[in-house]
Amino acid sequence: MKYLLACALLLPTFVFAAGTAPTKAVVCQACHGEGGGKGMMAGYPMLKGQDEQYLVNAMNAYKNGGRKGGMAAVMAGQAMGLSDAEIKELAAYYAGQ
Ligand code: HEC
Repeated sequence: MKYLLACALLLPTFVFAAGTAPTKAVVCQACHGEGGGKGMMAGYPMLKGQDEQYLVNAMNAYKNGGRKGGMAAVMAGQAMGLSDAEIKELAAYYAGQ
C-alpha cells in the first residue's frame, strides 16, 4: 500500500519532467507538428532541429511585420502574442528537437 501511494505521488513528477516543451508549444503543434517535426500541410514548415538564432529571428520578423509573402500572415498572427522570453524558449526547444 505504501509502495502504491509512493508511485501515485511520483508519477506526475515524471510525466512533468518528460514534458519539457514550453506551454505555448501546444499551440504551435497544431500547425508545425509535435516537436515541430512535420507541418500539417504544404507551406507549413518543420521547425525541428532548425538553428536556434534563425528561429528567434524568424519569429521576431513575423512579429514586427518584417517578414511577408507566402503564408507569413498566418504566422504573424501567432507571433504577435509571443513575448521575447517565449520566443527564446520556443526557439531553444525546437532547435533541440
Ligand atoms: C495556424 C497555423 C500556425 C500556428 C498555430 C503556428 N504557426 Fe508557425 N508558421 C505557420 C506557417 C504557415 C508558416 C510559414 C509562413 C511563411 O510562409 O512565411 C510558419 C512559419 C514559422 C516559422 C519560420 C520557419 C522558417 O523555417 O523560417 C517559425 C520559426 C514558426 N512558424 C514558429 C512557430 C511557433 C513557435 C509557433 C507557436 C507559438 C507557431 N509557429 C504557430 C503556421 C503556424
